[in-house]
This record gives sequence, structure tokens and C-alpha cells, in this order.
Amino acid sequence: MDVTELKNKDDLMMMQSRHAAMGEMINMIAHQWRQPLASISAISGLLSLEVMMDQYEKEHFTQKLDLISELSLELSNTINDFRNFFKEDKVKESTTWRELVEGSIAMIKPVLISKLIKVETVFHENDSFKTYPREIRQVILNLIKNAEDVLVDNAISEPTIWIRTMREGTMRCLEIEDNGGGIPKQIINHIFDPYFSTKMEKNGTGIGLYMSKSIVEKHGKGSLSVYNTRHGACFKIAFPLNS
Ligand SMILES: Nc1ncnc2c1ncn2[C@@H]1O[C@H](COP(=O)(O)OP(=O)(O)O)[C@@H](O)[C@H]1O
Ligand SMILES: [Mg+2]
Repeated sequence: MDVTELKNKDDLMMMQSRHAAMGEMINMIAHQWRQPLASISAISGLLSLEVMMDQYEKEHFTQKLDLISELSLELSNTINDFRNFFKEDKVKESTTWRELVEGSIAMIKPVLISKLIKVETVFHENDSFKTYPREIRQVILNLIKNAEDVLVDNAISEPTIWIRTMREGTMRCLEIEDNGGGIPKQIINHIFDPYFSTKMEKNGTGIGLYMSKSIVEKHGKGSLSVYNTRHGACFKIAFPLNS
């Protein structure tokens, strides 16, 4: 295989991972839209009923219309938030683990709440450092999504995700651990391979971890690794302090 082919293959992977991210984005938007959309439809139903019965009062009517505007704004803000979140980073920016983690959690919080998944965070290391924040937030989101998948699939009681940061020697590290039972020994060496997925029947793509690893390693000069704990899988991002 020559270099041009390799380059194209990489572009293809990048495109596929974009598609997968977009699919997930649409799911999350749909989730966050359901409630306000239902409210808008209920309010407008109420208003047209009032008109039909010729029974409306100006002030009440205006109030309800304002509420509809507010809810519509919420819908459009949701889209903008996700748009921004999935944009590409061009330059490195100064940020902290807390900002990165909280930015990722904000995107997926409604889904986690609806699935009763608890997230516990502790930041032992929180100095600011330069990185590509959107890309790292996408990696963190990927890892949280995978944890969510295993917690739901294995119907874990008290499903929990622990996120913690610490300094280890000359590295600043972030760990994401779940209590989903862990990764079977036979596959643990393959999960970072492109297209490796155990979720084929549920349209898993198998590129989440591959892309996450390459983002962390190429862009951040860091490492992404995994080990099993007594609770489940623990993914670890490590960046050199001086990067
Ligand atoms: N937290 C986890 N616990 C158990 N297995 C996991 C976890 N995260 C990833 N895996 C395994 O790694 C595989 C590859 O993950 P990924 O690259 O994100 O692809 P996908 O999620 O589309 O299957 C998953 O199919 C799953 O078998
Ligand atoms: Mg995945």
C-alpha cells in the first residue's frame, strides 16, 4: 500500500467517525428536544382550543405565546451547543480537566439522567494546559457513551461512572471507570482496532476508540489506555505535563 492510499484510508476513517458522531449527536438532540417540543404542542393546542371556544384573555394569551418563544429558543440553543461541540479545533487552547469533563457531561447529562446513571467526578489535578479542547471533549464523550452502553446492556444496578484526574510522575491523567463488568480478556487487545465492535447488531461502528486513541496520541502527544478494575473498565488519558 502506498502513502496516498494510506492517506485516503485515514480520510475515510475520519469521515466515518464524523458520520457516527453525527448520528449520536442527532440522538442526543432528539432526546433534549422531546420535552420542550411536547410543551410547545400542548400550549398551542390549549390556545387554539381557547380560540375555538371564543374564550381567551389577552394577557394569558400573550404569556403563553412568550412561553412558546422561550421554548423555541431552547430548541435552537440545543442545536448550536451541539454544532459547536462537534466543530474541529484549529489551534490549541488553554483549558483544565474540569472544563473538559464538565463540557462533555453537559452534552450527555439528560441521557444519563434518563438512564439513572450516576456520574462522580474528582479533580486531584486541575492545572491549566494547552490542548485541542473540542477534540478532547469528543474523546471524553466517546468514553462516557461506551460506559453508558455497557451499563445499559448489562442492566447494571446502581450504574455509575467515576471520572477522576491525577498527576502521575510527569503526566497529567484522566480516568473514566464504570461498573459495567469490564472488558473480556480475549478482546481487550483489540478494542482500539478500527472497526472492532461487539455491538454489531446494535449498529456499533467500532471506530470510537480507534479515533479517540489517534486524537489523543497524534494531537495531544499523549496516550489512551485501558485496564479492568473490580468494577468494570477504566480508560486512562495521559498527557505529558510539558506538552
Ligand atoms: N466501558 C466499556 N466496558 C466494556 N467494553 C467496552 C467499554 N468500552 C468499549 N468497550 C468495548 O470496545 C468495543 C469498541 O468500542 P468502540 O470503538 O467505541 O466501538 P463501538 O462502541 O461502536 O462498539 C466495544 O464494542 C466494546 O466491546
Ligand atoms: Mg463507542
